[in-house]
Amino acid sequence: MTSRPEQDQETNGNTVSENSARPAAGGNTRKVFVRTYGCQMNVYDSERMTDVLGPEGFEATNTLEDADLVILNTCHIREKAAEKVYSELGRIRKVKEERAKSGKDMMVGVAGCVAQAEGEEISRRAPIVDLVVGPQSYHQLPGLLDKARSGEKVVETEFDIDAKFGHLSERAQTQVLKRAPSAFLTVQEGCDKFCTFCVVPYTRGAEVSRSVEQILSEAERMAAAGVREVTLLGQNVNAYHGEATDGSSWGLGRLLRRLSEIDGLDRLRYTTSHPRDMDDDLIDAHRDLKSLMPYLHLPVQSGSDKILKAMNRRHTRDDYFRLIDRIRDASPEIALSGDFIVGFPDETDRDFEDTMDLIRRVGYGSAFSFKYSQRPGTPGATMENQVPEEVKSARLAELQALVSAQQKTFNETRLGMVCDVLLEKKGRNEGQLVGKSPWLQPVQLDAPEALIGSIQAVEIVKIGSNSLFGQIIDRQNSHENPRPVTAAMA
Ligand code: 5AD
Ligand code: SF4
Repeated sequence: MTSRPEQDQETNGNTVSENSARPAAGGNTRKVFVRTYGCQMNVYDSERMTDVLGPEGFEATNTLEDADLVILNTCHIREKAAEKVYSELGRIRKVKEERAKSGKDMMVGVAGCVAQAEGEEISRRAPIVDLVVGPQSYHQLPGLLDKARSGEKVVETEFDIDAKFGHLSERAQTQVLKRAPSAFLTVQEGCDKFCTFCVVPYTRGAEVSRSVEQILSEAERMAAAGVREVTLLGQNVNAYHGEATDGSSWGLGRLLRRLSEIDGLDRLRYTTSHPRDMDDDLIDAHRDLKSLMPYLHLPVQSGSDKILKAMNRRHTRDDYFRLIDRIRDASPEIALSGDFIVGFPDETDRDFEDTMDLIRRVGYGSAFSFKYSQRPGTPGATMENQVPEEVKSARLAELQALVSAQQKTFNETRLGMVCDVLLEKKGRNEGQLVGKSPWLQPVQLDAPEALIGSIQAVEIVKIGSNSLFGQIIDRQNSHENPRPVTAAMA
């Protein structure tokens, strides 16, 4: 499974975001503007790129016009990804020309999965691009930039993921930045599953897990920098099988158990998982670990056995139902989330109805849904009986109406409940903070800024369309149980 793809007409999945890393302190530095498309793994990678560039004298900026270096960290999961990058490059060219009038230069890099997939083609079609760098080569950025500065067009799309993580961690060790209370940590990258709709095995390469030691030291550094919640990332995160120092191989359940012992890391999450890799130990971890949040993103894509087979998902709908039962036995309060694709080749009304039936039976707290998009080079792209666009649109609308209703019902069951909320940042209005519930819902409440980074017992007093509203409960004087209260899904 991949993490969140780029959002367009479909669901609330993804973001396009500017530099999330904090700008470095003043000085005579150059500025880097990073625009991130796609999944959380790209968000993590963008932060690491900014980390790597810090010691090279770059500070992050959110203003394109100020940038000496622009990096587009791209996503290739669905339609027209490359075209969007080319049109963005067109806009950047104009800004670069404006800067040139006042004698300022601007270097342009394309990173991420479009860089990996398109390679040299990018600098051919968009001559303003100085540097094309695939996801496994970010640790080499300083050297690659030097090369590019000397006028050479640089294209680096080798797969050498071990080197990437080794170097990125090493660099990060020299950083003593205070981090936001919630952070991503990539533990696994790439995928060997080859679902027939998906480009990830081609753009991110074979599955590789980082070593236990590397992950623990990065997590410990995060905790020391004020991180309270870590989300472990991987395209197939529950296929994690990292090597420990004694040479043994650890699965994700074992890794989570060890991470839960780190002081200060009060909340653990992981995304995204494949149903086939939910082993007993991981399911048990949901029962055993207080810090493992009761939320699981477990994409199934379709509820039709015929389509699941054609997608090469290698499980049936009944396997999925049995799995969900086991997970709910272990963690009755868990909120489930999923990904769905409508209009995969040869999907009939009957197949689609099977998907709707699956959704009704499972009951999701949230879900992401997409129209099937033919990705060049994947088996699905050349399958017969491609589904017409208008049929896809109609099915998507129907499916989204169902999951929105489920999400609303789920959110409403939180009303009056007291739960732990991690306060993450300032809200839109003065005196307001935004935090996250155990079920990954945004919670808005009135609280002083000094409470950012703390976990508070909060009573949910109102349900909005996209977030919950709460009030902090004084734990000492409260008779309420500050641990999350179980609520059954509709
Ligand atoms: N078409 C539509 N959706 C896709 N996804 C991945 N590839 C495609 C595609 N070719 C969706 C899947 C996956 C999510 C990250 O993106 O649902 O789980
Ligand atoms: Fe996920 Fe399948 Fe794509 Fe692998 S091939 S990333 S399991 S959707």
